[in-house]
Amino acid sequence: MAPTVADLIRHGGAAFGRAGLAYGHGTDNAIDEAAALVFHALALDHAQAEAAYATRPDAGGVARVLALFDERIERRVPAAYLMGRMWFAGLEFEVDSRVIVPRSPFAELIHAEFRPWIEPEQVRRVLDIGTGSGCIAIACAVAFPSAQVDAVDVSPQALEVARRNVARHGLGERVHLHLGDVYEPLGDVRYDLIVSNPPYVSDAEMQALPPEYLHEPDLALRAGADGLDVVRRILAGLPRHLEPHGALFVEVGDSDVRVQEAFPDLPLTWLEFEHGGGGVFLLRGAESRSADGR
Ligand SMILES: C[S@@+](CC[C@H](N)C(=O)[O-])C[C@H]1O[C@@H](n2cnc3c(N)ncnc32)[C@H](O)[C@@H]1O
Repeated sequence: MAPTVADLIRHGGAAFGRAGLAYGHGTDNAIDEAAALVFHALALDHAQAEAAYATRPDAGGVARVLALFDERIERRVPAAYLMGRMWFAGLEFEVDSRVIVPRSPFAELIHAEFRPWIEPEQVRRVLDIGTGSGCIAIACAVAFPSAQVDAVDVSPQALEVARRNVARHGLGERVHLHLGDVYEPLGDVRYDLIVSNPPYVSDAEMQALPPEYLHEPDLALRAGADGLDVVRRILAGLPRHLEPHGALFVEVGDSDVRVQEAFPDLPLTWLEFEHGGGGVFLLRGAESRSADGR
């Protein structure tokens, strides 16, 4: 008898487990990863998951699922790239290997409109440094409906993906994409809120990444000998670009210890997250005068 959707998910999960895949691009285990691919290959609705598990896809559907499983195992491609899309902060984004797969704990901050750290009513201008797919910039534009959002990336290829996502969410009037290095394309504009998930992996750590991560752009992950090349430039330009009542939020992941060692005198607040993740610091505008990057 043909397998059910639940059978296929179990089969994929077991095969992924045997293959020793790495997760972290939207799911954190083999069964969820297999389920995402099965639902995608069969165009099933996640909202109707319970009803879908017992259904038996036709032979073509089963073949599509198995082909995706094979590609996931043999090429170690993250599931999001195989699906061409990813959810972040409740919104769907197109993704491919020109941008990293959205997975930042920023989603939780955006959901809370960055409370209690800022007054949402004061947010008129937002800057996203290293926008990639545009996911953080777009989710901020949705969270702050009267704000203008500038989004910078040094990769023209990433900006092409971001442009598609801005259009997809109908935000062309409020999310402005800029090609360049950190603040370079922005002139002297000041922001109420600056957010960034910059590259922060050190050269040595890059050597140890599982194969899945090597499908992502090197430029999006690698940030020099200590992983802080871009973070330093973000901090150095801060006094010129952040309003005194504003705040900067930067994700640095496991580079948090190196940030604390490199900037012992900066009054950084390290945030805690209910839904996992970490390594995000906050620096308030009024306290950023000394953020000269040294
Ligand atoms: C870790 S990815 C984050 C992408 C997206 N914000 C997200 O959270 O999914 C970092 C992004 O920063 C960009 N980037 C790297 N160096 C940069 C620089 N010097 N100035 C601006 N963007 C940079 C990369 O091209 C990449 O898209």
